Amino acid sequence: MAVEILQTHKLLASCEQALAERFTVHKLHEAADRDALLASLKDRVRGIAGGNAGPELMDKLPKLEIIANFGVGYDSIDTAAARQRNIRVTNTPNVLNDAMAEITIGLMISLARRLPQGDQYVRQGKWKSGSFPLQSELNGKTVGILGLGRIGKEVATRAQAMRMRVVYHGRHKQPNEPYVYYDKLVDMARDADWLVLIAPGGKSTDRIVSREVLQALGPEGFLVNMGRGTLVDEPALVELLQSGGIAGAALDVFEKEPSVPEALFGLDNVVLSPHQGSATHQTRFKMGALVVENLEAHFRGEPLPSAVV
Ligand code: NAP
Ligand code: 8YV
Repeated sequence: MAVEILQTHKLLASCEQALAERFTVHKLHEAADRDALLASLKDRVRGIAGGNAGPELMDKLPKLEIIANFGVGYDSIDTAAARQRNIRVTNTPNVLNDAMAEITIGLMISLARRLPQGDQYVRQGKWKSGSFPLQSELNGKTVGILGLGRIGKEVATRAQAMRMRVVYHGRHKQPNEPYVYYDKLVDMARDADWLVLIAPGGKSTDRIVSREVLQALGPEGFLVNMGRGTLVDEPALVELLQSGGIAGAALDVFEKEPSVPEALFGLDNVVLSPHQGSATHQTRFKMGALVVENLEAHFRGEPLPSAVV
């Protein structure tokens, strides 16, 4: 008998197919009556593929053994509740580092050089009436990275290729890294031209980029958020972007996705991106494969390739 698992949201087709070949899959996101589905699966579901798993869901599935998240960030899973219930949790680290680092640099250049606006300038025939305004460059600037982890380190390497100076903030100094460490985020923001966020969401980072940090970044400073929307005081960010309190922002993540503060839509100093940091064919394929590998390893009694709990 195939192991029964619950899928909590839509996944890549290759991942869904690989899951269906190995398990009996029930799709919570397609259920007309979620409670009825969960009640009918109560004593059968042993695994979850996907995120969005809090204690309420865990308690409805008393035979649950593992949650395999599609994504490296697992802030949509209550890991403390999982630990209490002896449920393993896995994520998809490393396979998305390159895609994430590439788009981070891409968004920085887009913002510095106003690439989306330049495209519109040509399409709308404005070029015929005059040249596009001069913009700024990355080289020679200091980028402060909040979260010099797996992705942050790849961003740092590429920022150096752009001839930027790299500094970082995290809870710990990393003595083997060649970059200057700031133990206070606000101090790093004051000294940086660019502040790039690539730390996890969750309680410990909630609105860590406060109004004070944004004001320290200042009218010449640019913010790039690749981590989670919850890292930033979003209302303060909108206000400071409107008033010139910071120079601009490139945002891949938002507090209430897919809703984005409408005040941002009319701003020229903002580049908006629909949480597409890992959204390439090759990276999403690898993420999906890792979800399947974690579930397979668990049900074979083997060590988990990428466990967080
Ligand atoms: P990682 O290797 O665990 O790195 C996270 C970094 O954040 C670490 O350097 C850590 O340093 C720092 N950090 C954690 N908690 C902190 C806190 N309270 N204060 C300050 N720094 C803190 O994770 P990763 O694989 O690089 O991924 C990072 C995050 O990127 C994910 O969790 C996810 O939210 C986001 N992400 C977004 C996308 C997207 O599509 N936009 C895609 C992938 C990932 P210390 O331990 O020294 O504090
Ligand atoms: C999403 C991400 O998981 O890995 C992460 O933490 O934020 C992304 O890769 C992806 O968009 C799937 O929802």
